[in-house]
Amino acid sequence: MKFQVKTGPASRQRTGCILLPVYAGGALPAATQDADRAARGLLRKLIADGDFRGETGQTLLLPKVPGLACPRVLLVGLGERKRYDRKACRKATRSALAALGRMPVAAAVSFIGTEPARGTDAYRRARLTVECWHETSYRFNRHKTRDIRNPAPKLRSLGLATDGEAAVLRRGIRHADAIGRAMTLARDLGNEPPNICTPDWLARRARELARQHRKLRVQVLDEARMRRLGMGALLAVTAGSRQPARFIVVQYRGAAAGKAPVVLVGKGITFDTGGISLKPGPQMDEMKYDMSGAGTVLAVMQAVAELALPVNVVGLVPSCENMPGGGATRPGDIVRSMAGQTIEILNTDAEGRLILCDALAYGARFRPAAMIDIATLTGACVIALGKHRSGLMGNSDPLAGALLAAGEAVDDPAWRLPLDAEYMELLKSPFADVANIGGRDAGTITAAAFLSRFVGDIPWAHLDVAGTAWSTAPQKGSTGRPVGLLVEYLLGH
Ligand code: BES
Ligand code: MN
Ligand code: ZN
Repeated sequence: MKFQVKTGPASRQRTGCILLPVYAGGALPAATQDADRAARGLLRKLIADGDFRGETGQTLLLPKVPGLACPRVLLVGLGERKRYDRKACRKATRSALAALGRMPVAAAVSFIGTEPARGTDAYRRARLTVECWHETSYRFNRHKTRDIRNPAPKLRSLGLATDGEAAVLRRGIRHADAIGRAMTLARDLGNEPPNICTPDWLARRARELARQHRKLRVQVLDEARMRRLGMGALLAVTAGSRQPARFIVVQYRGAAAGKAPVVLVGKGITFDTGGISLKPGPQMDEMKYDMSGAGTVLAVMQAVAELALPVNVVGLVPSCENMPGGGATRPGDIVRSMAGQTIEILNTDAEGRLILCDALAYGARFRPAAMIDIATLTGACVIALGKHRSGLMGNSDPLAGALLAAGEAVDDPAWRLPLDAEYMELLKSPFADVANIGGRDAGTITAAAFLSRFVGDIPWAHLDVAGTAWSTAPQKGSTGRPVGLLVEYLLGH
């Protein structure tokens, strides 16, 4: 897909389709006015007749409008002018590009971004447009051999119209293209079924990334190596599985070698049955998404490398399956983590924190400036925040603040939950240093409290993406979140 900056009036565009903005009520935007003049007032008449009201996200396709150089016009509603803000802009753009993706056209030019939206500039609008294209054109049809209901769009080139700021737009396009491709990677990894997307398959995907980007270095630790490192918590989770566990280390160096890196840690449970504490049957298939944190980390590493960001970043992916079986860990087992703390595993379904605690201990070796873990960690987070906001917890106000701000800027929002010392009380074990569950109360927070024991005084944040990393029917699938939040954070780092 090619994204280009386009100058010149709407009426003169020779392309498959032009996307023209229309407000609900009031004057036509300049670009639409220009097209309307060339079409001798046809658009204005249509609107006056009530055939198009300009509500946010409403679209209307007009073929063969006389007087215009291109064969299709897509009118795009922006809603009321005085309410037109970033969210309305995203909604309108998303729905327009989704409609465009279903048209038999190879090239189009959008004028939506020429209208100012509150809380945006030309850069932000270019980013949002290109990100929306990646989002709406995404398909996961690789396992369908027939009857594909939603084939991939025909579009090959999307022009972004502007009457000035070309350089700013090009920068927005470059950033958004990298982010969009990264989100696509995260979604592909998340959607891949668990019989294919195994820990070793993820490790091979990571190696592939390193082959494509010379600035990435990948190292994959096997179980023998994990044992030597003392990763008893991670090994306890993989004990019931026939798939070998993998610990993936991806390093990107964009700054001086001595510069402390940002360490990202992604939960890579390729399937979570719950283990001996078996999950109930309904919707268990969705536990293939339990490696979404891992997918996010690999995707962010790809974006960082493509954008050649001037930072050092380390991506860590502890990956295994959580299965029952004769060799599986039992409720009541006590294991020793890499950090030396012993853990009483009271529930084998609280496995994410077990693989993460060893990964966080490993991450501390890099002496990070910040450590961020991303995990589909608790069902309680879905209950608390739903699918809209990721849960954010941590020990550093500046880091939490920066992540929250990044999430708001790109509409990949998070919400901070408290992490008072009192919550740690809930994790007491009579037999080991700590228990792996804290009972029904504050399930999202006690999971984070558990993790906090393994980060020492490193500035650390934990993103619980159980609600945000995938969506259920009717648009079932991986969302690619929180790749947008994290790349935005690293862009500003
Ligand atoms: N992967 C799940 C969390 C999850 C549940 C994500 C539902 C998305 C939707 C995690 O490993 C898990 O099973 N957590 C348990 C923890 C409990 C046993 C303390 C949970 O949330 O029920
Ligand atoms: Mn679980
Ligand atoms: Zn899990």
